Amino acid sequence: MPPPVPLKIAVIHGPNLNMLGTREPGVYGTASLGHIDKRLATLAAELGCDLVSCQHNGEGELVDAIQRTSIDSIHGILINPAAYTHSSVAIRDALVAVGLPTVEVHLSNVYAREAFRHVSLIADIVVGRVMGFQVESYLLGLRGLVAHLRNGG
Ligand code: DQA
Repeated sequence: MPPPVPLKIAVIHGPNLNMLGTREPGVYGTASLGHIDKRLATLAAELGCDLVSCQHNGEGELVDAIQRTSIDSIHGILINPAAYTHSSVAIRDALVAVGLPTVEVHLSNVYAREAFRHVSLIADIVVGRVMGFQVESYLLGLRGLVAHLRNGG
């Protein structure tokens, strides 16, 4: 029997997350996006999976990144769509189109913030959601996604 293919996860970061570290540190913490990606890479090695990570400010670029997962042999998606969480039908449609198990993460607890952040256009199509733990939201989200995929996804 051939050895099992290692899980490959796409990590997709939305707009303004490239400014983490200096952007509203009281809300999002002081970790930079590079630091978050490093922590994720360390955890991925521990969990025995491969990660590909990207950040885009544009909605169309995020849609392209989601579509690419279907030709890149990706098994699951860990996504923080940032502000597009609350507005983007295009990102929702792209996630539905590729049909991969997806976990939604947010650094902040969006329900403790403005009412417009209480709406997520992807909440009902994702496997699970983690929010409010700053960088730990991503790590918990990755653990949850990998467990979901290993349990038959
Ligand atoms: C965010 C929450 C969004 O409401 C906001 O627009 C972001 C970041 C978070 O990670 O807490 O940019 O997704």
